[in-house]
Amino acid sequence: MRKTVIDFLLLDNKQLNKDNFLLKLRSPIPVPELFPGQFINVLIKDASEIFLRRPFSILDVDFNKQIISILVKILGRGSKKLTEAKEGETINAIVPLGKSFSLPEKSDRILLIGGGSGVAPMLFLSKICGLAPSNVSVLIGARSISDHIDISAYQAYGQFHFTTEDGTLGEKGFVTNHPVFTEKLENYNKIYTCGPNQMMKAIGKVAIEKGIFCEVSLENMMACGFGVCLCCVEDTKTGHKCVCTDGPVFNVNDLKW
Ligand SMILES: Cc1cc2nc3c(=O)[nH]c(=O)nc-3n(C[C@H](O)[C@H](O)[C@H](O)COP(=O)(O)OP(=O)(O)OC[C@H]3O[C@@H](n4cnc5c(N)ncnc54)[C@H](O)[C@@H]3O)c2cc1C
Ligand code: FES
Repeated sequence: MRKTVIDFLLLDNKQLNKDNFLLKLRSPIPVPELFPGQFINVLIKDASEIFLRRPFSILDVDFNKQIISILVKILGRGSKKLTEAKEGETINAIVPLGKSFSLPEKSDRILLIGGGSGVAPMLFLSKICGLAPSNVSVLIGARSISDHIDISAYQAYGQFHFTTEDGTLGEKGFVTNHPVFTEKLENYNKIYTCGPNQMMKAIGKVAIEKGIFCEVSLENMMACGFGVCLCCVEDTKTGHKCVCTDGPVFNVNDLKW
């Protein structure tokens, strides 16, 4: 897939809750083919001290309108600066980067588990996987209801379940405490997940024990985003792999977890 450097127009920058923003970026040229799990590497404008691009998963694409949406959670200086961008500004990004999740077969029953900003590729996958909504469950975990983002635009694509650590939305606890995970896992033959490493490790461990296909999307720190600087390397069972080019999506069986 050809990587392209695009000067996007920032169409919309909407604050979803305290730390999360939804950015809609319109491309002046047709958007290259994109799949869930792939990401864009964004140049942070007017910030000479932040010279490395910052990676963000693709949340959604409208190929007709040439719009890519990303979910940006404020973590440090780069993400904060990006959320301060004004509509009409230019946002430069390299797109698409990385390998996507494998798309499910028609007969699959899939469980998508997103934690924090890891919800972005899960929502995109729910939308384009092409399965009947009854065969798609989406389990979303956050610290509190105030960290949750509105998923109503995706509700039609699957059955949604929520956990919060403080019990303010859905089941109290982690995603791995939810009955969908603790009691109904045999209903699914594939698990896809993105979020904090500890969460994905806990999910991956159970998937391996139960022999369920499981793909995880790693969010190792990155710099170049296309396999040159080696700062994103993950030690896997088949050697050191660049998360930016060999991943970010890996089958959990390939990782040394
Ligand atoms: C493939 C991929 C997809 C991603 N998708 C999204 C997304 O859809 N939405 C989103 O909000 N974020 C996403 N991230 C994370 C996002 O790239 C980082 O939050 C961002 O680069 C942080 O930049 P910053 O300048 O704000 O923080 P910095 O000032 O660079 O760092 C602030 C603090 O966060 C730590 N940190 C920085 N990056 C990471 C990281 N990747 N993992 C763990 N700790 C980190 C630093 O060590 C530091 O302590 C993704 C990361 C990767 C690798
Ligand atoms: S980020 Fe440079 S090699 Fe992966």
